[in-house]
Amino acid sequence: MTGKVYIVGAGPDGLDLITKRAEKVLKEADVILYDELIGEDLKEFLKKTKAKLIDVGKRAGRHKKGQKEINRLLVEYAKMGKRVVRLKGGDPFVFGRGGEEAEFLAEHGIPFEVIPGITSAIAVPAYAGIPITHRAFDPAVVFITGREARERLNWDALAKLNATIVILMGVSNLRKNVEKLLKHGKDPETPVAIIERGCTKEQRVIVAPLREIADVAEREKVRPPAVIVIGGVVRLREKLAEFLRFD
Ligand SMILES: C[S@@+](CC[C@H](N)C(=O)[O-])C[C@H]1O[C@@H](n2cnc3c(N)ncnc32)[C@H](O)[C@@H]1O
Repeated sequence: MTGKVYIVGAGPDGLDLITKRAEKVLKEADVILYDELIGEDLKEFLKKTKAKLIDVGKRAGRHKKGQKEINRLLVEYAKMGKRVVRLKGGDPFVFGRGGEEAEFLAEHGIPFEVIPGITSAIAVPAYAGIPITHRAFDPAVVFITGREARERLNWDALAKLNATIVILMGVSNLRKNVEKLLKHGKDPETPVAIIERGCTKEQRVIVAPLREIADVAEREKVRPPAVIVIGGVVRLREKLAEFLRFD
C-alpha cells in the first residue's frame, strides 16, 4: 500500500516554534528529509526519532541534493509504504518549494498532507520588535524574494504601493533591489531593518534609511539568512525592542 508524504514547516528555528501536528508526525515518521535552515535543537530531536534521516539541505544557494532527486526520493519512499516527512524551514509554501513538491506528488498519485509552519517572514521581524502590520503604518504587506530569477516583479508598482515590503533571500542583491525601489520613487528616508539569523541567540539587527542601507550592510558584512523589512513599522523597534524578552 502506498504511504503518505507530509510536507511540514519547521518554523524559523528550534523546537519551540514548531506546531504540535508537526511534532506528532515527526515522532511517527519512517523517513525524514530535512533542510539546512532548521534549528540545532530540532536536529537533535530528529536524531531521537525512529526515522531514517536524510539531509537534503541547501548550502549557499546550492542544494546538497537537487530538487529532482528530492522529488524522486519522496515518491520512492511513499511507494514503499512509508510515512515520509519533508521538513522545511519556516512555512513550506513561503518561498520553500513546497508547492513544487506537492505538484510532483499529485502527478505521481501520492497522498500528501501539508502542515504549515511559522514563516520567518513574520516571526523574524516579530522577534526583532517589528510587527509587520500596525494600524498607524502601511495598510498592506508584500513578501518578495530578492533573487534575480524573479526579475518579473513589477518594481514600479511595488515602489508606489503603500505597503511594508519584506524581502527573503535578499542579502546578495540588496544594493540592486534598493536601487530599483529608489529609481521607481520609493522614499529614500523609508526605514529598513535587516535581521540576520532571526529567532536565534545570534540574531543581529541593522537599521538604516533606504538610501544608506546597502552601504551599511556592506560595512557590517551582513550574511544570509536574513529578513529585510522596508517600511514605517521598522520605527516601532525603537520603542519595543528594549522590553522584548525571549527566555
Ligand atoms: C528559501 S527561503 C525559505 C523561507 C521559509 N520557507 C520561511 O517560510 O521562512 C530562505 C530565506 O528565509 C529567510 N530566513 C529563514 N530563516 C531565517 C532566520 N532564522 N533569520 C533570518 N532569515 C531567515 C532568509 O531570507 C532566507 O534567505
